[in-house]
Amino acid sequence: MTDHYPDKENGTKTRSSQPPRKKSPHVPFGDMRTAPWYGKDIISVRQFTSADLDYVFGVAHEMREMVERVGTFDLLKGKILASLFYEPSTRTSASFTAAMERLGGSVIPINEVTYSSVAKGESLPDTVRTLECYADVIVLRHKEVGSAAQAAKYAKKPVINAGDGTGEHPTQALLDLFTIREELEIFEGITVTMIGDLRYGRTVHSLARLLKLFNVRLNFVAPELLRLPLGIVQELAENGTPANYYEALSPELIARTDVLYVTRVQKERFENPEDYDKVKGSYVITPETLKQAKDKMIVMHPLPRVGEISMEVDDDPRAAYFRQMEYGLYVRMALLAMVLGKA
Ligand code: CP
Repeated sequence: MTDHYPDKENGTKTRSSQPPRKKSPHVPFGDMRTAPWYGKDIISVRQFTSADLDYVFGVAHEMREMVERVGTFDLLKGKILASLFYEPSTRTSASFTAAMERLGGSVIPINEVTYSSVAKGESLPDTVRTLECYADVIVLRHKEVGSAAQAAKYAKKPVINAGDGTGEHPTQALLDLFTIREELEIFEGITVTMIGDLRYGRTVHSLARLLKLFNVRLNFVAPELLRLPLGIVQELAENGTPANYYEALSPELIARTDVLYVTRVQKERFENPEDYDKVKGSYVITPETLKQAKDKMIVMHPLPRVGEISMEVDDDPRAAYFRQMEYGLYVRMALLAMVLGKA
């Protein structure tokens, strides 16, 4: 790793203005074909233990330091990412591209599949088998639940799930948890309140599953039509995770909350537009909402937002949703380095 950290480790290259730093336990030299995540797919948060999370966040923290200190470095020089998006994306697509490029790698972007052979009827298995001829890792967003698992079944190279319909969005949940860690520094004993589209919101599904690894209290606020799926309610109950369910976000609930996780009501997920009309605009977080909140509470949102957090909240120091996007860069850098045997 010395070559990537030119001003650390090697005494001859250490800048005199900075104290010598310990060698990172997380970002080792060279390829690590025996590394635990080398060549693995990342399909679900269920793959991660709390020890795995510590490891991911350790690497992500190193990535943050490196980006802040040197910007771009050559850890993945020569590696290629195929970025295959069947659904729209700004953050996930751009941050994976930025992550690969910050690490010195390059990207085959297929962000508009209508201009690829998918438009001619090519199947997902054939598309991923094509892309892995040219790339070392595939990032896939698809509208169907289970699509990432299907792609991984056919691909020999690692597949990373960037959102499979209403199923999971594991890299978002990892970056969400990293955000909580960086902002609050603890998970133990915190209260997380999730609000909005808990039914179709894959980020909520993944984050709830990760949070149950910790001693946390969960609140879920949604209209009846958008309640958390029963399967996840049961998972939390079987795990013994304290969870409460509400239709309204009361001042008392806000006052007990450490993390307010707001989500968009996703118009594109509704089969019946009348159902969307019934629940759109159900909740709007405003400065008034935050009056009862703790000074150290954070407001998170996977974004994009379409009005559920008023822009007047943006200047409140508790508004963490823009910082959250930046944390996503570091987590995705860590994940790419891990599956490609560099961490
Ligand atoms: N949070 C998220 O997945 O955003 P995009 O849809 O813009 O990728």
